[in-house]
Amino acid sequence: MKILGIESSCDETAAAVVEDGVKIISSVVASSAEMHVKTGGIIPEKAAREQLKSIIPVINEALKETKIENIDAIGVTIGPGLIGSLLVGIEAARTLAYTFRKPIIPVNHLIAHIYANFINDKVPQFPCLCLVVSGGHSDLVLMKDHGHLEWIGGTRDDAAGEAFDKTARLLGLPYPGGPAIGLGAKTFIDNNPDFELSLFPRPMINDDNFDFSFSGLKTAVLRYTENNKDIDKNRLCAEIQQAIVDVLLKKTIKAVGFYKPKSLLLAGGVAANNHLRENFVKKAEELNLPFYCPPRLLCTDNAATIASCAFFNQKLYPVEKIEANPELTINDAP
Ligand code: KG4
Ligand code: ZN
Repeated sequence: MKILGIESSCDETAAAVVEDGVKIISSVVASSAEMHVKTGGIIPEKAAREQLKSIIPVINEALKETKIENIDAIGVTIGPGLIGSLLVGIEAARTLAYTFRKPIIPVNHLIAHIYANFINDKVPQFPCLCLVVSGGHSDLVLMKDHGHLEWIGGTRDDAAGEAFDKTARLLGLPYPGGPAIGLGAKTFIDNNPDFELSLFPRPMINDDNFDFSFSGLKTAVLRYTENNKDIDKNRLCAEIQQAIVDVLLKKTIKAVGFYKPKSLLLAGGVAANNHLRENFVKKAEELNLPFYCPPRLLCTDNAATIASCAFFNQKLYPVEKIEANPELTINDAP
């Protein structure tokens, strides 16, 4: 079964064709992130305008190898995200579904991030413990089966990606902050492999729950930079990255001990972070727990994950019932 996935929840416009949820035939992503570098963050109105420019060329490109007649269904992100951006993808999907008489499957963007791990020769075994860390969300979920997710914890304030983005801005680094901090951190760690990185707080790390809090990190970085003008910026990157990685790893491993999953999955844009990946690989090896982490290009927003999620959760909807829901949570089935 071939599904055309369409994603437009934020600043990426993406379309992909995926076969049986696991094999990518095409995947095209256009990003307006570069435009947002100037403003240090996304301006929703501008992001939506860029989506409008890109959506038709991106879908066209994704359908180069597969005629629309050979597509069995269309999966589209309905939320969470920016309303103006979401509507662009949804209206494109609805128009195609209506014109070519294709069934349409609504997709929860956060759950789709997890499916980046299923686009694989070897799919993860249930129950999976999944850490989903993106720009707007950080959630720990127990996935018992397709369509059976139990939320067990998440951020109380800023998401992990948001913490990277906001602290990067404080350091004068470009948007998105995650890759920039990752790069600075790598430079510092390569030159100072034994340096103890303990400058910033790890809120809630020892609390008896599976929640996170990252807003204090931003304040701590602000205070520190105000009082220490000459500190090596790369060291600060390494300190920020380590504080985030420590909390994510410790809380996730605590959840592993409690829920005893058969596999551990990392997902979302922040999962592209090398240091986070390496730390998870090491820990999972120690625990002898099968660990999955998507290739970097499937961590950040794309439409292959949308098509895969649609395949494994085939809730067909009438075209007129598909609606954007900017506030959708990982707990909500679309
Ligand atoms: O999942 P995603 O592409 O979009 C959302 O659904 O939000 O995640 C974007 C987030 C941004 O906050 C970005 O800074 C972060 O992922 N990110 C990274 C890296 N690449 C992207 N964070 C840390 N290290 C990276 N290499
Ligand atoms: Zn995302």
